[in-house]
Formats: sequence, C-alpha cells, structure tokens
Amino acid sequence: MQDLVSNTPTLDKVSTESPKEIAALRIWGRQPLSGNLPVSGAKNSALALMAGALLCPESCRLRNVPNLADIERMTQVLAALGVKLDRQGDALTMDASHLTTSQAPYELVSKLRASFFAIGSLVARLGTARVPLPGGCAIGARPVDLHVRGLQALGAHVRIEHGIVHVDVPGAGGKLKGAKIYLDYPSVGATETLMMAATLAEGETIIENAAQEPEVADLANFCRAMGAKIRGAGTNNITIVGVPKLHTADYSVIPDRIEAGTFLVMAAMTQSDLTISPIIPEHLTPVIAKLEEIGAKIVQDSPACLRVIPHALKATDIETLPYPGFPTDMQAQFTSLLSVCEGNSIITETVFENRMRHVAELVRMGADIRLKGSTAIIKGVHRLSGAPVMATDLRASAALVTAGLAAEGQTIVKGLHHMDRGYDDLEQKLRNIGAKIERFTEREVTKE
Ligand code: EPZ
Repeated sequence: MQDLVSNTPTLDKVSTESPKEIAALRIWGRQPLSGNLPVSGAKNSALALMAGALLCPESCRLRNVPNLADIERMTQVLAALGVKLDRQGDALTMDASHLTTSQAPYELVSKLRASFFAIGSLVARLGTARVPLPGGCAIGARPVDLHVRGLQALGAHVRIEHGIVHVDVPGAGGKLKGAKIYLDYPSVGATETLMMAATLAEGETIIENAAQEPEVADLANFCRAMGAKIRGAGTNNITIVGVPKLHTADYSVIPDRIEAGTFLVMAAMTQSDLTISPIIPEHLTPVIAKLEEIGAKIVQDSPACLRVIPHALKATDIETLPYPGFPTDMQAQFTSLLSVCEGNSIITETVFENRMRHVAELVRMGADIRLKGSTAIIKGVHRLSGAPVMATDLRASAALVTAGLAAEGQTIVKGLHHMDRGYDDLEQKLRNIGAKIERFTEREVTKE
C-alpha cells in the first residue's frame, strides 16, 4: 500500500505482497486450423537415453533430441557428474569418459524426476552412486521402491539417509551381479534404471513384468547400439547379458507419441483437417482406437503421417493402463475432448493417484464433469467457453491449451512452466496452422 503523500510505503503499511512475473498464453478459440503439426523427438525417451550415455566410456551422439526445459535440466545433471555435452540443433553429443563424481546434485534432481534414472548407469559404471530421492510432484508421490529393490537384487547395498539414496556394490571392482527381478508394477522408470544397471553386470539379468512402453524399447536399442546385449525390450520380459564395457554410438530418438497424440486430440476437438508427422502409428494404437471409437476419422497419409478429418464426436469410456493400454499421459487431453463429445463418458485414471486436477479448470470453461476420486464422469456439452485457467502439471497444460483452441472466446492458460517442460515450441507450431495464440507475462501480486 502506498502512502499517497510521500508515495513511499509507510512501515505500518509495508505490504507482504511481492509482484511476480508469470508467463501465460492467451488463446482465441475457434480459429480455423489447417496444415501439418510437426512432432519432435520423444521427451521420455531422450531423458532415458541421456541417462544411458553415462554407461559409455566414449563420446556418444543423440539426434532428434527435443528442445525442452526437462532436457536442459538433464543436461545440467550430466554436466554436474562430469559429462562433456555439446548441443548442435537437435543433436546432442555427450562424452562421459571422465565422470568426476558419483553424486547427483539435489537442487537439480529434485526438479527432474527422470534424472533419478541415472542411478542405474552410475552404479553400473562406478560401483557406487549418491542420488537424491526425486520426491513427489503434482500427479503423485512418485516412490522409487521398485528401483531400489531391483538394484538390491543385482547385489547393490542401498541405504537412504537424509533424502539421498546411497548405493554401493561390495567386492572387488564393484560389479553388479545379474539376477532375476520381478517388478510388482510395470514401472517405466524402474525398468529403465534396472535395464541400464544390468548392461554392465556380471552374468544374466531377467526383468519380469517389465514396462513395455516404446521409450523402454528405444533405450534398449540405444544401449544395443553401444554394444549392450538386451533382448525382449518392448515386451514384459527383458533379458540382459552383462558386457565388460560399451562403445560409442550415434542414435536417433523416436518421435514423441504423446506430443503426436496431443496433436491428434487437438485436431479432433477443433474439428480441423490436420496432418501430424512424423509418427509411428503402432506407438499410438490405443489412442487411435479411442479416437475412432469417438468418431474421429483418421487416415494414414504416408507411413509416418496421420491425417485427422473432421467428424461428429460421441462419448466413450477410457481407463488408463500401462502400455499397451491407454496411456496415462493422454488422459488429461482426452478429458478435454470428451467434454464436448455428445453423450456421457467415464474416464478413469489408474496409474497416478492425483492426475485429475485439470478437471476443475475444464469445469471453469463450462465442462460438465463430476469427479469421484480418479474417475471423471463427463456429460458432453455443445461447446466450452474461454476462461482464465491454471495448468497444474505437464499434460494438464496440454489439455487446457487444447480446450482453449476449441472454446468460444478467449482462454488464458497460466502455469506455462509445466508446458515448457514437455512441449517443444508448442505455440509456434499452433500459430503455423492458424491458431491465434500469444505468450505474455503479467505481474501477479501474490500474498506471502
Ligand atoms: C514415466 O514416469 C514417464 N516419465 C511419465 O511421463 C509417465 O506418465 C509414466 O512413465 C507412466 O507411463 C518419464 O519417462 C520421464 P512409472 P515414471 O514408474 O517412470 C508407481 C509425462 O507426462 N511406482 O511407470 O516415473 C508410480 O507411483 C510423465 O511425460 C512405484 O510405486 O512412471 C506410479 O503410480 C508424467 N514405485 C506408477 O508406478 C516405483 O519404484 C507408474 O510409475 C516406481 C513407480
């Protein structure tokens, strides 16, 4: 509060408020959209592959690496471990020949859960690792017990002290020993951590009930390009035979199936004739099946390009499951879409315990959704109306942008730091197909 006379805050009126610059998107809905939405390299693959590069005592190169905040954070984590990195366009060269520490820095790991996956590579390469617990996030507690139990099965001693996971391998040379590991849940991260750890272990490792996501298979293919012996990745049973060391590789990251799926939903929800490429259709089988069930017309324009043709949309039911089931990372986007599909839909989130926070924001836009735990009961409305909304996590931000493109009037989406983690220059890609969308910053006075 300013004192009008002296125009300076008087002590008894000093405000506890501090202005904060926040980035937001302004979206004018119902613009006619046409053209092609280009898909970048897969975030969740590139992050795992970067952790995999720690296994290699020589320089490796990844291509088709997306330009994302999470990739930048992972770059910082690897640099802190002694990796020399060089980014040229979508190529990333990493030289992990001289790791300078086995301790990943807390302030970086706490901001990027995926950096925890480096624990497998570090302990395989160095026989020891100190990695902070990644902690929870908006969508759930995100425990790492499956990672820890798997490393113990491979012969590592693990203790958690002051939020740091200490891993040490006893015996000469600190080599892990191959083992049979059963995962209670097909965790993507645990499968990737343990697959990387096993590449340099002595003997054979079998991971049962492994995650089957395409990003797991992509990581396995990168490790195999470096000389690892892995078979069965992409199925629920992966066998790894340890080798003494790996060698250089030059590898291209698969296209991001979740970005591609998000674009398919945007096309369907805005009733736009759009093409999306590059795409690997078999990575999107459940997403394409559900879109067709809703009534969307999807044609394959070429081997790596899908085209969505406008069509009336009707309700359906969805339950998220581990791959090859319907992906949890597409749940928020489909909640937006189903909110304007004629009829009643039910969408149930079974993978994460707190991944329905976009529902309240969609209701602000006029969606008719009732939430019971992690089940959303949706009654389709004719059209959403633009409103100021807050993104609470990465895929919620995509869901709200999608809703804003289809809504009547203007939508302001705040919480863009979530979106920037996982979508490479989304607003420019949308502007290129005719969307009226602009990023702006506003000073928000927040009460401390
Ligand atoms: C990966 O996270 C992805 N992230 C997530 O994408 C994705 O949603 C998730 O897999 C599921 O597909 C990356 O690859 C960087 P999980 P991850 O281990 O590995 C429980 C996005 O939006 N669990 O398969 O952390 C866990 O709590 C992000 O791009 C344990 O209980 O997922 C969750 O309920 C979000 N103990 C379930 O398993 C563990 O040790 C699935 O988690 C590990 C996991």
